[in-house]
Formats: sequence, C-alpha cells, structure tokens
Amino acid sequence: MKDDSFQFNRIVQGDCLTGMSDMPDACVDLIVTDPPFAIEFKAKRSNYHRTASRVLEGYHEISTADYGQFTHRWMDAAFRVLKCSGSMYVFSGWNHLKDILTVIDDTGFITVNHLIWKYQFGVVTKRRFVTSHYHCIYVCKDEKKRKFFPFSRFDPTARDTQGGSLHYRDKEDVWSIHREYWHGDQKTPTKLPSEIIRKILSYSSEENDVIFDPFLGSGQVAVVSKKMNRRYFGFEINPGYYEFAKKRLDQNAYRLKPDDE
Ligand SMILES: C[S@@+](CC[C@H](N)C(=O)[O-])C[C@H]1O[C@@H](n2cnc3c(N)ncnc32)[C@H](O)[C@@H]1O
Repeated sequence: MKDDSFQFNRIVQGDCLTGMSDMPDACVDLIVTDPPFAIEFKAKRSNYHRTASRVLEGYHEISTADYGQFTHRWMDAAFRVLKCSGSMYVFSGWNHLKDILTVIDDTGFITVNHLIWKYQFGVVTKRRFVTSHYHCIYVCKDEKKRKFFPFSRFDPTARDTQGGSLHYRDKEDVWSIHREYWHGDQKTPTKLPSEIIRKILSYSSEENDVIFDPFLGSGQVAVVSKKMNRRYFGFEINPGYYEFAKKRLDQNAYRLKPDDE
C-alpha cells in the first residue's frame, strides 16, 4: 500500500496492532518506542506514595505467555512501515530482552548498536543488585541507506575541560541520563526522559522527518518530535494516557499542572 495522503502530526487512541494496518508501506523515517514490559506491571495510584494522585492509572500490560507473539506482530508491521533509510530504537528491560532480540533478527532488521541507558535511582534491593539500566536496541533495514548524523550534537573539534573529544564521548554506547520527576504535575508511571529522545532524534533524523511511536504512553516521543520540528504519529491504547498526550501536544505544554486536568 502506498498513500501520500496519509495524515501525520496526530496521535490515535487504540491498539497499534490493528491501527498500523492502515499505515502505508515505507512512510516512517524513524521509530522510537518503549513497548509494554510483560512483567505484570500494574500502574496503581497506591503504588506511588507522595504524588500518588497525579499518576494516571490503567497501564496496558501484556502477559508473559503472549509477549513473543505480541512482539512479532508489532515488529513485522514496524518493518513494513519503515523506509529503507530509516532506523528504529526499541527500549527494553532485561526481563524480556531475549524476545525482543529474537524477533529483531526474525523480522529482518539489522542491529546497529546495543545501547545501555543508565539511569539514577533504581529500586533499592537487599538480596540482589539494583537494576539501574535499560537496554535500547538500535536497528535499521538497510545498513547502506540508514541515516546517521555524527556531528549533530558536537562539532568534531569540541573538547571538554580535560581535552577529551565531546562528540566521541556522546557517541559511546552507554548513556547516563537522569529520569525526570514531575513533582506535583500530572504524569504516567513510565516515561522516557526528553533528553534521551532528543539525542536519538538528533543522530537519526532531520527536520520534517516522520517519527513514529506505536506505544506512546505520555506522548513523550511525539511531544519531543514536535518541539524538534519533526512530524509525529503514534498510538496509545489507554484512553486516559491518550488524552493526556493529546492535551500536551495540542497545548504545546511539556508538563500539565493539576489545574489543567
Ligand atoms: C512503557 S509505556 C510507554 C511510555 C512512553 N515511552 C512514555 O515516555 O511515556 C508502554 C505503553 O504502551 C501502551 N500499550 C500497550 N499495549 C498497546 C497496544 N497494543 N497498542 C497501543 N498502546 C499500547 C501502554 O498502555 C503504555 O502506555
């Protein structure tokens, strides 16, 4: 299917597995996504003490038994809608990483990098080590056509105070980026920091490119794409999260005060 009239710069409330079938082939430049984890994650307000009332409930989880098949279905569709020059960045915890890696290979994607996002403040543990990282698998369809802008964030000559190369440091595959805490504002329980999305978009897209996220959550990928003059598109199955993301996009507001709810 090829259809130049497909509309971007909007988000859709619904299941991406059905919604993606309406998207034309090769219409997307970059996919950035953080699919559900299948760890029986429950977004209940009671799980969040201090600012509990501002956390939106209803995170849509996938069962462990269905995770492989679910991953196959959305990734097959992602492969179809991605342009040959395009790339995809998929975030994953370690629990179901093996499913993600297997399906990436089965689908025909080529792995470019296996990035580690190191964040601050994992959950304190007594009988094992604290998980304080996520995996982010950077893949493409065609290694020769894939877009990458190596000096989009730092000039080749830029140096830190010790004389180290800033662009080299920025391109190392372990990214230490803080999570964002939106104290007092409305929020969803899991969200990517804008800095990590900004970094991915800077290296792997240009202005006016189409950025797609099948699992929008709070809409971070769409909101940052809009700010960076990219076109955006995506799905979110949870009506409350969808409304939250849509409001942020419509109002050009990064954070929503409780009064705006
Ligand atoms: C890990 S969260 C994404 C968080 C997002 N990256 C952010 O920064 O806010 C995964 C999201 O996928 C949604 N979801 C789960 N299954 C879905 C489906 N089949 N179609 C669309 N959204 C789905 C969940 O409700 C949840 O909001």
